Amino acid sequence: MKRMLTGLQPTGVITLGNYIGAIKEMAKRQDEYESFIFVADLHAITVPNMDLNLKEKTRSLIALYLACGIDPNKNTIFVQSENEYHTNLSWFLECNSYFGELSRMHQFKEKSKKNENFTAGLFTYPVLMAADILLYDTDVVPVGIDQKQHVELARDIAIRFNNKYGETFVVPEPVMSGAGAKIMDLIDPTKKMSKSSENQNGVIRLLDDLDVIRKKIMRATTDSEMNIKYDPENKPGISNLITIYASILNKTVEEVEKEFIDSNYGTFKKAVADTVVQEVSRIQDKYNEYINSDLIDKILEEGKKKSRIFAKAKYEAVKNKVGFY
Ligand code: TYM
Repeated sequence: MKRMLTGLQPTGVITLGNYIGAIKEMAKRQDEYESFIFVADLHAITVPNMDLNLKEKTRSLIALYLACGIDPNKNTIFVQSENEYHTNLSWFLECNSYFGELSRMHQFKEKSKKNENFTAGLFTYPVLMAADILLYDTDVVPVGIDQKQHVELARDIAIRFNNKYGETFVVPEPVMSGAGAKIMDLIDPTKKMSKSSENQNGVIRLLDDLDVIRKKIMRATTDSEMNIKYDPENKPGISNLITIYASILNKTVEEVEKEFIDSNYGTFKKAVADTVVQEVSRIQDKYNEYINSDLIDKILEEGKKKSRIFAKAKYEAVKNKVGFY
């Protein structure tokens, strides 16, 4: 069986973009693959943030995974920092990565602009991500489009290492959810919906109050036309709402256009709001069931054991290939 893996950072604010771009894709494919999903807490300390509260946010993210349909019987669910082979392998991969290629990563360029005192960890972030992926012989990595370049770097590193030391790593593929690979901000639909956005009215968080979610959608920026047509360049706001509606209901963009051919923006926005609220409400109900249950501790204990078995074997193989004692 082929393997699938993805991770999210435990930032406390999981957005509709994270859900559609990554978690929903994992849930959709979990029967086809042997699956690993983890909390990328080591990546969360690459940027300055005094309010990390990682323990609580990690628990919350696990409860959200479960609430979004990630089945603990079909996935190995674990916390990255609980498995030291990730950072161990990362060193080997750093020694097979180039300063130039890491300097060209879009995310690094963007984030390093925000704070001139950026850390070395922010620079090597994509190499740790490559270690996360390559440790498990991962075939496919469901991610949003913003992470595609990082998965491609993992591919390049895997190929380079295999050429130098002999077949060691499976070369992974990024998989993306079509239009849903980039959910845009509701206020400025030319920008990605992002946890760190300054105006939170453009961002739907999975744990937002349902009335707030409805208002955010009803106030989403559109255009002065009347037709519900997918045209991201000229109609980014409406196109984004079409993507959200289509992704949640597993419909195609064409089906949505057809469904609303005679509707106005008000009717369409209401339908999108109803759909999102219904989906998020279902997720929140399940989240509340899981968040205080000891199921989370059991899952993480199991996930820690299982992920370490896979990771240790790969790490030992890498050490051998490089020729260490
Ligand atoms: P994070 O937590 O920033 O993002 C988690 C996932 O959500 C996707 N995403 C989006 N998808 C669609 N529309 C959006 N507006 C949107 N915003 C975010 C991201 O592309 C990502 O898939 N570096 C990763 C965490 C990570 C990882 C890994 C992922 C660490 N190691 C190994 C896969 C494999 C990240 O950015 O997380």
